[in-house]
Amino acid sequence: MTKITAAITAVGGYVPQFVLTNKMLEAMVDTNDEWITTRTGIKERRVLKKEEGEGSSYLAIKAATQLIEKRQLNPEEIDLVVVATATPDSMVASTAAFVASEIGAVNAFAYDLLAACSSFLFGMSTVAGYIETGRYKKVLLIGADKMSSIIDYTDRTTCIIFGDGAGAVLFEPNTEGLGLQDEYLRADGSGRQFLGMEGGGSLMPATIESVTNKKHFIFQDGKSVFKFAVSNMAHVAELMMKKNNLTDDDVAWLVPHQANKRIIDATAKRMGLDAGKVMMNIQRYGNTTSATLPLLLNDYESQLKKGDNLIFAAFGGGFTWGSIYLKWAYNAN
Ligand code: UT7
Repeated sequence: MTKITAAITAVGGYVPQFVLTNKMLEAMVDTNDEWITTRTGIKERRVLKKEEGEGSSYLAIKAATQLIEKRQLNPEEIDLVVVATATPDSMVASTAAFVASEIGAVNAFAYDLLAACSSFLFGMSTVAGYIETGRYKKVLLIGADKMSSIIDYTDRTTCIIFGDGAGAVLFEPNTEGLGLQDEYLRADGSGRQFLGMEGGGSLMPATIESVTNKKHFIFQDGKSVFKFAVSNMAHVAELMMKKNNLTDDDVAWLVPHQANKRIIDATAKRMGLDAGKVMMNIQRYGNTTSATLPLLLNDYESQLKKGDNLIFAAFGGGFTWGSIYLKWAYNAN
């Protein structure tokens, strides 16, 4: 029997219209363009304003619709919609179910997947598994985050970093050996003291005190997270190359989570890759959490060739991190 692999066969992406520049942030908190640029690589990020739309579902629907139109896909053929997100529309009711209905994926089941900045990477592994069983033919994986909904715009340690956006990819069966080849995924719960949001969950439901004490905003001990992120992302990316006997010549692209340009550069260096093989859009979008990886694929789609070896790597809250090796399955026209 021919082996079925799970390949990405279409991509889409969306960022909201409002551009929040470093210059604008200078007027909001004690920071400056030079500090932000040299420490993070970010020049601007996008923010979803009420006048344009609301909730991560708005971004997810936009990205999915772009994919559907580009690929001329009948949404009724979609079997499953997974929305990777750290900022669902609300607790309990699945954001993915709403997104599936809105895009016309009326025959799909749908659910959310949450692993902070690794949500999309872990989602790739999850949805690939459905395809590999042979029971599902079209699975839509969307990474969407409205990070501005959990950012304190008076906290300079977080408000300069995050942005809003969404990206979508379609996974389909492949019998040419293309698509997901290998993965190495990890988690370490001791990391939750360094990055997260204390309020709003079952540990700390919303109270007047939790709101007053700003517990419904994201916090980050940047220095500690940086140390874990830089060593672990570089480690897993290098490991993925070694496990699969890939040299730097064999790797066409590194697709890294966009948390900090210095982390990305260190990962590429450990892999022996030139800057020209590293996907990067942090300068324009900042850290969009679950949307970084699919937005990169959307931005670089025209440069990707069938058979290209892509190494994905991500690190996020929890901690959660890992790497995936995927062979690109099509040439964009
Ligand atoms: O995506 C999920 C995973 N997240 C990450 O991977 C993020 C990892 N961390 C980082 O990217 C970096 O740690 C940050 C970009 C968040 C911070 O950069 P850093 O080089 O680690 O800076 P720092 O926190 O060590 O702060 C250095 C100095 C401090 O001042 P002192 O104590 O040296 O006087 C900060 O108070 O910079 C100060 N600072 C700022 N200055 C201007 C902190 N934030 C700012 C700011 N503007 N926005």
